[in-house]
Amino acid sequence: MKDKDKYWKKAKNEGYRARSSYKLKQINKRFEVIKKSERVLDIGAAPGGWLQVSKEIVGDGGKVVGVDLKKIKPIKNVKTIKGDITQKSTIDKIKQVEEEFDVIISDASPDLSGNWSVDHAKSIDLVRKTLDLLEELLKPRGNYLVKVFQGEMYHSFYEEVKNKFNFVKAHSPDASREQSAEIYVIGKDYRKKPIEKGETYQVEIVDKGKKGDGIAKIDDFVVFVPGAEKGEVLEVRITDIKDNYAKSKKT
Ligand SMILES: C[S@@+](CC[C@H](N)C(=O)[O-])C[C@H]1O[C@@H](n2cnc3c(N)ncnc32)[C@H](O)[C@@H]1O
Repeated sequence: MKDKDKYWKKAKNEGYRARSSYKLKQINKRFEVIKKSERVLDIGAAPGGWLQVSKEIVGDGGKVVGVDLKKIKPIKNVKTIKGDITQKSTIDKIKQVEEEFDVIISDASPDLSGNWSVDHAKSIDLVRKTLDLLEELLKPRGNYLVKVFQGEMYHSFYEEVKNKFNFVKAHSPDASREQSAEIYVIGKDYRKKPIEKGETYQVEIVDKGKKGDGIAKIDDFVVFVPGAEKGEVLEVRITDIKDNYAKSKKT
């Protein structure tokens, strides 16, 4: 029997809505992305197989929220939202339910056209959207799991995840082997930035950069301050935030 049929049958017998449930079970057994009592956001959650597995893992002390373009049939003690994850209105709806999550997982897939490069580009677009959400919805040190269709842009996406997490791994669980194009990227220990664009902070200049800008650190995050000298203590406004540093202006 093909793996696909094996897992489909198993899901049916064990009361799971999708055979993808076993992908999450296998990934979690190996990487412990989700733990007991945590708050989980599942993106692209219909019909709800991952929601069922997440709920089992977190138990009564945790919280599971699922979002999908399609309506999800109710699952006991799981909150579901119908909406497009690329829309701000959907993020607002999620935030009304829970402000911040310990784990964000996404098995979302775009509508596939059958044209390989178009589908790959659509997949990368969608996974980048999930990356953008992290800043708003994932707690510092939180975990992330996302499905990606491999292709030429996969590598740069993987690098983007590496910039945001202390532990990153790509994995293809046994239950997904039949669909060889898909791979799951796991990011653990989110390096959430301690600053926000437009906000002001009191900083001390601890060093000087190669281009002569003063260097301040906010919770170990590097902030460049043009025209500031080592030892100076001053207030700055953050003008731009990159993965590993921010730019600022004296106020
Ligand atoms: C493979 S299914 C997910 C299966 C699910 N993990 C489970 O175990 O039941 C992919 C889902 O992603 C959803 N999706 C695709 N694009 C989306 C978007 N922009 N916003 C929300 N959901 C989306 C689709 O509607 C589809 O239901």
